[in-house]
Amino acid sequence: MALRRIVNKSEDILRKKCKPVENFDEKLGILLDDMAETMYKANGVGLAAPQVGILRRAVVVDVGEGLLELINPEIIKSKGSQRAVEGCLSCPDDWGYVVRPNEIIVKGQDRNGKNIQLKLKEFFARAVCHEVDHLEGQLFIDIADEMVDPDEM
Ligand code: NI
Repeated sequence: MALRRIVNKSEDILRKKCKPVENFDEKLGILLDDMAETMYKANGVGLAAPQVGILRRAVVVDVGEGLLELINPEIIKSKGSQRAVEGCLSCPDDWGYVVRPNEIIVKGQDRNGKNIQLKLKEFFARAVCHEVDHLEGQLFIDIADEMVDPDEM
């Protein structure tokens, strides 16, 4: 495993749309291992492949319930809403309120290409929505309805 450099919000790559993962090979496994290591080292709860410079649809999330790897994730159902402060490893100085669904059903694949479907709520749902947005080239700072002074965090 190796740490990878986290791309900053000023870099164009974070604004690009990611391509689906087609090859569930060793290279994908290495990418996912590196993404998890990089996320944990930075004390993050999620990381998307474009944040390490790879324009593929892969994310890792750990909100304290264990590591979730999601390949080609797709939110197929969402319910309710929640509003809370978010941050992002690519936007280290920014914090802001974002409205997200309170519950989602997300489908995708694991690192071996096996289909998975999960029902997630609250903070876990928020984190997955945030990471899926990265795959579309969207950052939370684009959709935050109110930014927060970092000194107050
Ligand atoms: Ni982020």
